[in-house]
Amino acid sequence: MGTSSDKKNIVIFASGSGSNAQRLLEHFEHHPHIQVVALFSNNPDAFALQRAQNFGVPTGVFDRAALRSGEVLEQVQAYNPDLIVLAGFLWLLPSAFVQAFPNKIINIHPSLLPKFGGKGMHGQHVHQAVINAQEAESGITIHYVNEHYDEGAPIYQERCPVQPDDTCETLAARVLTLEHRHLPRVVEELLTSGKNSPETPTA
Ligand code: GAR
Repeated sequence: MGTSSDKKNIVIFASGSGSNAQRLLEHFEHHPHIQVVALFSNNPDAFALQRAQNFGVPTGVFDRAALRSGEVLEQVQAYNPDLIVLAGFLWLLPSAFVQAFPNKIINIHPSLLPKFGGKGMHGQHVHQAVINAQEAESGITIHYVNEHYDEGAPIYQERCPVQPDDTCETLAARVLTLEHRHLPRVVEELLTSGKNSPETPTA
């Protein structure tokens, strides 16, 4: 496997719908210097897999045993990734996987970390917690991935208001719009600035 072109390679990990993956697939479909080379999922029913296949991008599905054993690491290494993007990926990556790709794994999270992050904080759980806490604003965080949920160094944040009459659904939609707008741009900037090179220290 792998790619013979001299483009920078993105590997996406996604667990569900994959609307962020879709934005990445669209943004880099005809890009001169960057390409999405594979999408992996822990969920065989993830619509994200279909989205990747629609773009002719190879997909892989794995279980916890394959992730723990290093099998997934080997499969991903074969694609020679310059950046691994967790786009709605809900499992914690093992240390060996994280350490194999220093500064090359990023995650998008639907809140202003460090608020409303950590184990179990994903999707609707995040937005409900934000509403319950009567926050005036929420937003997105794109950050490097380490061995802990949502704790790696932040790369980019964008804010949006929380309206008094917001439901989980209306807030989720507002935040998701921000994700779609900014994720492809931030990924492109990282790959063209070389900020994700192994020499760059994490904060
Ligand atoms: C996105 O809102 C993403 O930020 C969130 O899951 C959603 C996936 O949507 N990720 C997390 O909560 C990670 N902790 P998508 O499958 O439509 O891209």
